[in-house]
Amino acid sequence: MSLTDKYNRPIKDLRISVTDRCNFRCSYCMPAEIYGESYKFLPKEKILTFEEITRLTKIFAELGVTRIRITGGEPLLRKDLSILINQLTSIKNISDISLTTNGFLLEKSVEELVKSGLKRVTVSLDTLDQKIFNQINGRNLKISKILSGIESASNAGLSPIKINCVIKKNINENSILSLIDHFKNTKNIIRYIEYMDVGNVNKWDLSEVVSSKKILEIIKTKYSVKPLSASFKGEVANRYSIVSENGIYKGEIGIISSVTNPFCSNCTRSRLTTDGKLVTCLFSNSGLDLKKELRKGSSNDFIKSLIKDYWSKRTDRYSELRSKKNVSKNKKIEMYQLGG
Ligand code: GTP
Ligand code: 5AD
Ligand code: SF4
Ligand code: SF4
Repeated sequence: MSLTDKYNRPIKDLRISVTDRCNFRCSYCMPAEIYGESYKFLPKEKILTFEEITRLTKIFAELGVTRIRITGGEPLLRKDLSILINQLTSIKNISDISLTTNGFLLEKSVEELVKSGLKRVTVSLDTLDQKIFNQINGRNLKISKILSGIESASNAGLSPIKINCVIKKNINENSILSLIDHFKNTKNIIRYIEYMDVGNVNKWDLSEVVSSKKILEIIKTKYSVKPLSASFKGEVANRYSIVSENGIYKGEIGIISSVTNPFCSNCTRSRLTTDGKLVTCLFSNSGLDLKKELRKGSSNDFIKSLIKDYWSKRTDRYSELRSKKNVSKNKKIEMYQLGG
């Protein structure tokens, strides 16, 4: 019998945040004015070790998790990440291991990651305009570095690569078409994401969201698209192929309507924060402290029973309730702590 929550949603995915640090300072996640030189990220002793992550992942796999996504912060800042990936690949029932990265360190590390068993990668890239890129990520970094990271990943055999692009009104709508222009002849999948109210530091406002409907309208000013069916149950993106004069381009588009068309009813995702808390919704303000259990010597069976109990009581559906007055406006966990 699979483990399901109050709305009959099974636990299928585990997103693991391996570090709360990042080499970018995206305004919508870790604004530079708050996360300056003196900001204190988690000290080493509060971060789960690879052994702890692997031990917990085994327990999650026994409960039904089959898909793992490594996130951060920026996961490639975690030293020796390939050792962890290698440990996770040997866990029974885990059929998919992917990673979400800003791409800056990808070129350097991708071969080793693939050797250790990484199957898929998603790279965040909000624009191809150098000025806007620096404005969004608060750092003086070159886009060419991300593009060569994507190319190296492709050369290392990771294909298709997903490119995540968060669209913010009056900031980067122009990247909607330029990303298609750039990637349409590759096998990559460009995913446009509606800007969400994750965390508190970005001071999100609905007026800054560009709806998926609008995104599609912009795409259609230049390209014809054809809807595709979901590649698996619970996929968050609506998929489209891009029609060319002589058929269809290799590249694909996905649109993630987390604000205007939420997908909570299919949400099978659990999240493990850098400091070892199980969080069952991207918009939660608390989690189940598994690190505490590991470090006080609780048995696997006991930890399993705690997770079971926590998931079976789960009623999260924040995105579906967002517009309702009574939805909790308590301080939420930040995106970089729980890995998106
Ligand atoms: P695939 O299995 O490759 O489709 O991965 P994914 O789409 O789950 O992973 P990714 O990290 O690329 O997520 C894409 C975006 O969708 C994230 O940036 C989030 O903005 C959004 N997203 C992912 N999971 C959730 C979720 O559970 N709730 C909400 N509201 N948004 C989510
Ligand atoms: N809304 C939507 N997506 C976001 N991401 C980070 N913050 C937000 C937000 N407020 C994206 C990142 C990354 C993914 C894990 O989440 O760009 O691709
Ligand atoms: Fe770093 Fe990703 Fe947050 Fe940007 S969105 S600051 S790349 S963790
Ligand atoms: Fe899942 Fe929460 Fe996102 Fe809804 S808002 S899809 S419950 S993570």
